[in-house]
Amino acid sequence: MAKPISLEKILFSQGFGTRRYCSDLVYADLVKVNGVLAQDPEERIPTDGLMLNVEGRDWEYHEKAYIVFNKPANYECSHKTTHHPSVYSLLPSPFVERGLQCVGRLDYDTTGLLLISDDGQFIHKMTTPKKNIGKVYEITTPDPITQAQMDHLLNGVVLDDDPRPCHATACEQLSENTLAMTIVEGRYHQVKRMMAAVGNHVAKLHRIKIGAYAMPQDLAQGQWRWLYPDDLKNLSQSEEQK
Ligand code: URA
Repeated sequence: MAKPISLEKILFSQGFGTRRYCSDLVYADLVKVNGVLAQDPEERIPTDGLMLNVEGRDWEYHEKAYIVFNKPANYECSHKTTHHPSVYSLLPSPFVERGLQCVGRLDYDTTGLLLISDDGQFIHKMTTPKKNIGKVYEITTPDPITQAQMDHLLNGVVLDDDPRPCHATACEQLSENTLAMTIVEGRYHQVKRMMAAVGNHVAKLHRIKIGAYAMPQDLAQGQWRWLYPDDLKNLSQSEEQK
């Protein structure tokens, strides 16, 4: 059982604003704790299974935030964007306040499974090639995919900025022009550059799986949801464990 924490600190930790602002939210009768209107920002509250309601919005308490987001095209995975709006503009504002970061960026035109968290260790674990966690991309190509191209991807291709070849750990042809490819690294534009290196191109790129965690079928584009311990276990499954 986690140690009880003052309500003001809890609200602050969840990204509802400064300590002072969080305290004022309570005094303004805008916070409910497990369905009951809160009176005192200093009250110590147990956090296990805690459900808040802040300014009319239900909010599950999570000490660390781990969320899955179904990224639409034409959004950048950055807080300071250049040409397109930010994926963070599609998330509730407390996530931005508490400093959530994308776990490895997807290009603005790539869609699909994106993890977002404020747990630095988790972000590192999911992105380092050392943990061997596969990321599966569904690739649509303008030209038919050949066996020779898949063999080349599996045997390794050298990209222009690094002499070390990068390999697909799995390639499954889904149709003449679609391929599911697994990689464990996250180099800049890696999939697009790998496909160009074997003489094809990427017309559409969609991430469908990380580790043993597949994008939930019922999560619409632009929607997010919390990840729970079982999801995190599936996400951490390395290529060897499969
Ligand atoms: N590889 C790419 O080329 N783009 C992405 O968005 C992700 C992987």
